[in-house]
Amino acid sequence: MSALQRSLSPMLVPGLALLTAAFAQKTTGSLLTALAKHIPRPSGLHHFFLGNNGKIRTALGIVVALSLIRWANRFLNDMARNSWRASPPSDWICSKEIAVVTGGSGGIGRTVVEKLINKGLRVAVLDLKDPPEAFKEQARILFCKCNVTKPNEVAAVAEEIRTSIGHPTILINNAGICRPCRILDASAEKLYEIFSVNSLAHWLTVQQFLPDMIKNNKGHILTVASAASFLALPRCSDYSGSKSAARAFHDVLGSELKHFYHAPNVITTAVHTQFVRTPIIQDIQKRLDEEGQNILEADFVGEKIVERLVSKRGGVLILPESRSFLSGVAAWPAWMQEIVRDKYGRASAKRNE
Ligand SMILES: *[C@@H]1O[C@H](CO)[C@@H](O)[C@H](O)[C@H]1NC(C)=O
Repeated sequence: MSALQRSLSPMLVPGLALLTAAFAQKTTGSLLTALAKHIPRPSGLHHFFLGNNGKIRTALGIVVALSLIRWANRFLNDMARNSWRASPPSDWICSKEIAVVTGGSGGIGRTVVEKLINKGLRVAVLDLKDPPEAFKEQARILFCKCNVTKPNEVAAVAEEIRTSIGHPTILINNAGICRPCRILDASAEKLYEIFSVNSLAHWLTVQQFLPDMIKNNKGHILTVASAASFLALPRCSDYSGSKSAARAFHDVLGSELKHFYHAPNVITTAVHTQFVRTPIIQDIQKRLDEEGQNILEADFVGEKIVERLVSKRGGVLILPESRSFLSGVAAWPAWMQEIVRDKYGRASAKRNE
């Protein structure tokens, strides 16, 4: 599907409504009158339909105008994040691509690896944890035990991947850790570890695999950040901080590719999810369930990531989509931001965490 088709499809219903409202005012009017005829006479609804014909049309017009603005915004976002190209680069053949997934032994990473090999790709998994049994029999998976925070280990593993399966065209910086605690309780060791895994590792892997992507003007770098990169909450200063760094990394990477390396076909995507059912939230999962929080399934997130890779379009993926408004939190008035932080802060302090 081209960018235009993709952006147009959700516009079908409001678009038709607009055409009707704009060019067939009489028809809309008589339609409403006809509708009113079927409503029992003395009812208020009947009078409402007959008496507010014009108002109903105005309301319809407002809904349509808002949908149009939303559509234009989405369309421009999609184009801007893809070097104003309407169609994706054409030299991608799924079965020939090689992907690298950090943290691919579990959680979101594991589901992404499974889906990619099903599509015929070869995948190098970088993880400290052993891979699941099913991965061991898969010829398309190369498992590399690697501490992604160690420059020498990442370099050695990258060399192994290049010589044994070839130059990767897809890099998914997915490895991440989270252990919520207050600022005064965070040990130096823990701080270095979380920032190393959640952000610094992105520089290390990209330095290994990007040069070849630039040379061929072909590649896709996907950064798994978090909705926490938009909104820093109590007990998550280190997690939010490291994920905000990953978000900044994504923004700058895309810009440098365009202006310094002239490789517009190297695509970048950032993924920001809310809570996902993975070992990361193990400790707080029960509480989240009790609070009725919407926890995403790792498989759903993996599906969305792979969809994005296959579409060969870059951008920012916020999951669930209904939480896209979170990306604008920093622009909210301070009092609104404080209300949100207070709500979480109070609840967290009450639990005496
Ligand atoms: C990974 O490497 C860092 C040093 O870069 C070290 O502090 C950390 O303990 C290592 N992690 C594991 C699980 O071995």
